[in-house]
Amino acid sequence: MSTHSNIRDLGQHVGQTVRVHAWLQDKSGKGKIQFLKLRDGSGFVQGTVFKGDVSEDVFEAAKRLTQEQAVTVTGEVRADERAPGGVELSVRDLQVISENAGEYPITPKEHGIEFLMDHRHLWLRHRRPWAILRVRDCIQRGIVEFFHGEGFVRFDAPFFTPNAAEDTTELFEIDLFGEDKAYLSQTGQLHAEAGAFAFGKVYTFGPTFRAEKSKTRRHLLEFWMIEPEVAPSSHAENMALQERMVSFLVRKVLSECQTELDLLGRDVSKLAGAAEGNYPRVTYTEALDIIRQHIEDRDLPPNVQDDVQPVEWGDDLGAPHETILGHHFDRPVIIEKYPVGIKAFYMQPDPADPRVALCDDMIAPEGYGEIIGGSERIHDYDLLKSRIEAQGLPMDAFEWYLDLRRVGSMPHAGYGMGLERFIAWVTGIDHIREAIPFPRMLTRMFP
Ligand code: 4AD
Ligand code: MG
Repeated sequence: MSTHSNIRDLGQHVGQTVRVHAWLQDKSGKGKIQFLKLRDGSGFVQGTVFKGDVSEDVFEAAKRLTQEQAVTVTGEVRADERAPGGVELSVRDLQVISENAGEYPITPKEHGIEFLMDHRHLWLRHRRPWAILRVRDCIQRGIVEFFHGEGFVRFDAPFFTPNAAEDTTELFEIDLFGEDKAYLSQTGQLHAEAGAFAFGKVYTFGPTFRAEKSKTRRHLLEFWMIEPEVAPSSHAENMALQERMVSFLVRKVLSECQTELDLLGRDVSKLAGAAEGNYPRVTYTEALDIIRQHIEDRDLPPNVQDDVQPVEWGDDLGAPHETILGHHFDRPVIIEKYPVGIKAFYMQPDPADPRVALCDDMIAPEGYGEIIGGSERIHDYDLLKSRIEAQGLPMDAFEWYLDLRRVGSMPHAGYGMGLERFIAWVTGIDHIREAIPFPRMLTRMFP
């Protein structure tokens, strides 16, 4: 009786006969030999079927196999330096598990992205999604590990919320039986602030929703966000935490996902600075100068249009500006102290210059743009109340949030990192839609 092994672990069974349960990715060969490209989710291996090694029935069954048919293969594990994973299987026996009905639509030829996305439920079986989504898993584990190590409590924010937090135009509204309204949450932050005053250090980690009408490579309607919130904390401590987290996660991916990054053709030398730390910090005002200088010198990254304009003080940075900033540094850069007018109502103004907020965005290199947004929060009751009023936000929806300032308030800070933006950058893929199993976008709700 042969032992069962995952494909990933075959290297531990060289010289032995093992059984693997697998799917047939692809097949080639003729005459007396068949090469079976097998995968089982844990990894990939080639099975070689020699006519002389197996019964007539087994050889005929191997010849009849079709793409994505499920099989149990028994074979001898042989070391082979050229093979990915370093081993091959010399097939001795084979049983078909699934009798596939119909053709498998994703043939080994080239397919367009829309076709692949229409078949995302099947495309997930292929190497590229496999590699990207395993990196996603590694990062998710890393997040839990990092925050646990720093003494945080995981704290779940609700998905239905009574109030907007970021931008009222981006809200998905939910009809609560014709009576009241609720919204799908854009951020867990406000609830995390309640958590920080209860547990000191918390983080939320779950899906968030934004009715983004823009079609870009960086926006999803549903994305996952990691949102730590700490009390007491300051703007400076908040930035330091961001740098520790991002560099920790990059190091973890580099050490645990070599196979996946290789398969994606990621140039890992581009992640060296991010893994190390020492992220540069510049103010918004300084960032405008860097951008202006690049435009004057015509020193623009390839994906930025020639007619890009400098930013006027007080205006928000656009995607091309973030790309220029990302290009200027060899690792993530922290841009701090944006004008109060372009940032959220809850951000603490800088006591040294109340025109700017004690906030920051982290911009990833290579054109991946903003991966983190965060700030110190207004902790003073009167100031927060006046901000809510000034923005025309519904006061009754924010009474509970003001309660946090009525009793036991103290300076506190936090930030949010978009998981898919982070994954897209680390894996080097050019569109965020591949960083989540089933992306939800303006143009995609299926499958
Ligand atoms: O900068 P944002 O809007 O910040 C907040 O929501 C704060 N309440 C976070 C906090 O302080 N707790 O969003 C945070 C991050 C962005 O930097 C970006 O990485 C990601 O969320 N993000 C998106 N990712 C994918 N698709 C979208 N539509 C995104 N919108 C924001
Ligand atoms: Mg932001």
